[in-house]
Amino acid sequence: MIESVAARMAKLGYVESALEDILQVRPFTFRRSIHQPAYRRRWRKHGPLGLAVAFFLLQESLSLEELRQLLDDESIAALHMQGFLEPNRLGIRSKVDLYPCMGAYFFTDSAFELQPWPEQVYWLGGDSYTLAYCTPRRAYSKALDLCSGSGIHALLAGCPALGMDINARAIEFGRLNAALNGISGVEFAQGDCCEAAGRYDLVTLNPPFVPTPEGVAELYRTGGGSGEGVTERVVRKLADWLRPGGLFSMATEAPDGALQRMRSWLGPGWGLAELKKFEFPIEDYIFSNILSSATPPDQQEAEYDRWLDSYEAFGIQKMVSAQYFAVRLAAGCADWQCSREIPHPSGPQGEHWGKWLEALNTWNSPWPEDFVPRLREPERPGFSEQGKPLGQIEDRESLKALGEQMLITHWNEK
Ligand SMILES: C[S@@+](CC[C@H](N)C(=O)[O-])C[C@H]1O[C@@H](n2cnc3c(N)ncnc32)[C@H](O)[C@@H]1O
Repeated sequence: MIESVAARMAKLGYVESALEDILQVRPFTFRRSIHQPAYRRRWRKHGPLGLAVAFFLLQESLSLEELRQLLDDESIAALHMQGFLEPNRLGIRSKVDLYPCMGAYFFTDSAFELQPWPEQVYWLGGDSYTLAYCTPRRAYSKALDLCSGSGIHALLAGCPALGMDINARAIEFGRLNAALNGISGVEFAQGDCCEAAGRYDLVTLNPPFVPTPEGVAELYRTGGGSGEGVTERVVRKLADWLRPGGLFSMATEAPDGALQRMRSWLGPGWGLAELKKFEFPIEDYIFSNILSSATPPDQQEAEYDRWLDSYEAFGIQKMVSAQYFAVRLAAGCADWQCSREIPHPSGPQGEHWGKWLEALNTWNSPWPEDFVPRLREPERPGFSEQGKPLGQIEDRESLKALGEQMLITHWNEK
């Protein structure tokens, strides 16, 4: 019955770009509760779709008549049965958020909860969308999604998958979101990430990553003093889970130098890539995390000091928001490591990054002497960056550098 909600939302055009147009916030998941009055002026001009934004993303109360403009009675009944509707003196409020992502829908706990609680199921944040948009979508045979939260990455894997989360409430949301999207073949199991068994060709992870001093306990964000408590344990176990050729895809925020630490945890036999989005000075990072926590205003300054002590103890000087890949290399491919800067992804890019990883793999494998690379950009036919015809570049390192940047084709391409 819950499937009827997804069908209604699809019919209304409740998709990422439409929500951004209505809220005038790009990406819309960066909306902030403090700006409710501005958003209210905007969604009111957009009929039933505006009402859907107000109800499912801004936690506005609607009258039953308004609710019926966006949902049919079957869908309202389904939400009621889930315990997601809260009647109040202003009308009816949704206790959950509903996010669109790449044609699917995901219920989560609300991002606008004033008091976070330990078992709150993580909403779709910029990190969730980054991982969903950047992960290459291939014909995987089996996927493992660790720290699955709403279940988004297990459900988008497009193959049989296992989602694992330590939070029992997240497992319930994963199963509900599978039903919402009519997806079968994806299982959810409660447990610590490192309890997962089996072999996979895709492992996805958006860990709890915020470096936090003792006593901060929201499951969705507390990454221990270094912030990498879960990340390090998962990365160290990748060789047990991933087959050769298999891909690890992770969105996270981490202290500067994550790629080097990943290399030290993994050892040889891996290709590593980083797509850096933003850097945060620690004072901004700490302050925004304290503001979104349950710390009462009169204790915020002392708490700020406590966090600074902890960051100092762990040597954290800045935080980087990024997408990471680790490819388990097949025999014959040399280890590689590559970092690029990207803007926050605003839509699916998995195909592009899949080709990039393939180029990195290929250009780090032995290559045939007789192949003739071609430039990709048609506007500069026949010339490399140095202005030499491609046929004259004999230096392998230059060719490799151009290949890794996807400026020239490789021998596996037609
Ligand atoms: C940042 S949220 C990511 C949720 C979801 N994957 C996404 O991208 O939206 C981190 C998740 O990790 C889970 N978690 C925290 N510690 C864990 C552990 N030791 N083992 C498994 N899951 C854990 C939390 O319950 C939370 O759902």
